Amino acid sequence: MPGIRGSAAYSHEPPRDPCLKINSKEPFNAEPPRSVLISSYVTPVEFFYKRNHGPAPIVDDIERYRVCIFGLVENPKELSLDDIRKLPRYDVTATLQCAGNRRTAMSKVKTVKGVGWDVAAIGNAVWGGARLADVLELVGIPKLAATTPSGGKHVEFTSVDRCKEENGGPYKASIPLKRATSPEADVLLAYEMNGEPLNRDHGYPLRVIVPGVIGARSVKWLDSIEITAEECQGFFMQRDYKMFAPSVNWDNISWPTRRPLMDFPVQSAICSLEDVNVVNDGKVMVAGYAVSGGGRGIERVDVSVDGGKTWVEASRYQKPDVPYTADDDVCCDKWAWILFKVEVDIPQNAEIVAKAVDMAANVQPEDVTVIWNLRGVLNTSWHKVEVQVGRSNL
Ligand code: MTE
Repeated sequence: MPGIRGSAAYSHEPPRDPCLKINSKEPFNAEPPRSVLISSYVTPVEFFYKRNHGPAPIVDDIERYRVCIFGLVENPKELSLDDIRKLPRYDVTATLQCAGNRRTAMSKVKTVKGVGWDVAAIGNAVWGGARLADVLELVGIPKLAATTPSGGKHVEFTSVDRCKEENGGPYKASIPLKRATSPEADVLLAYEMNGEPLNRDHGYPLRVIVPGVIGARSVKWLDSIEITAEECQGFFMQRDYKMFAPSVNWDNISWPTRRPLMDFPVQSAICSLEDVNVVNDGKVMVAGYAVSGGGRGIERVDVSVDGGKTWVEASRYQKPDVPYTADDDVCCDKWAWILFKVEVDIPQNAEIVAKAVDMAANVQPEDVTVIWNLRGVLNTSWHKVEVQVGRSNL
């Protein structure tokens, strides 16, 4: 049977930056002020949102820590952290976004169930680790395999932490084997975040990173990997993190009718301004982030100062002095957000709007009501803020 061979404890809380806005204390869920997100392309670990469904465990006996890989494989194995570190190391810059990002705004249309988040349940980090495709080769599954000889089609990750939604059992999720064995999908077993060992909040000693996919599938505090015939039957795959039509309510919901969310849609948010702002004169910097799932780059970010009647294009960037092009994987980070900015004139009170377009020409929907769903996931509607021209210190 799988199981962590190190010990897990929960005791005290890890140190956290006081600027984080705590959305729930137990389990700990917090996001930085939105303005922090645009101060750097790579989000410092202390300002990276923290999203937990149970208490963050302490895995302290690294000598005994093992990840067990079992199930429908020829060659089940237990790997130590050293075994994983011996594999080729990859650094993948990828944006992690919780499916509940911007839930608070969606809940203003009609109540939704879930932790409230402003626009900062998202961050961009450089994840260092081994490719899952290389790890799976160690148990006899070749690159690009979509199935194993014994019928394995999914890769299920089980963690060390315990959550009430799983009736005290561990958090878990799965991805299709095809994605797991594809070197191009860059799925990692990550032991580092921004060049440092993962910290406790973000999954020490080892977590999964599934770039371009909602954060819920990037399982932290990894305990075991099972190759299965069916996708994971856990709560967070089957009865959560699915998107329903606006007409679905708690009386008529049928969970099996929808698939677990994977790639996230195109998203952007203004981070240089709060929901309501008072500015002195008419010049305002509109800056924020834009990102799309599935490795789709950002083709354009449009900004409007008249609630969406007319638009100007914002400049987009990832790294200084490197021109950003949506489909250039060599110079640009395909799994990462872009930051955008544009200075606009505000002669009078205005509604400022941002919307992004990805390289498949997907555009954010204008109106949150058309994508409202009872769990409040994937609010990717146009992000709008109000600016009043008056006396302020901005
Ligand atoms: N993994 C475990 N073991 N437990 C969790 O509660 N939360 C998931 C995912 N992996 C979670 C988990 C969710 S919903 C998100 S959005 C990301 O982790 C958040 O990762 P972060 O806290 O490092 O930002």
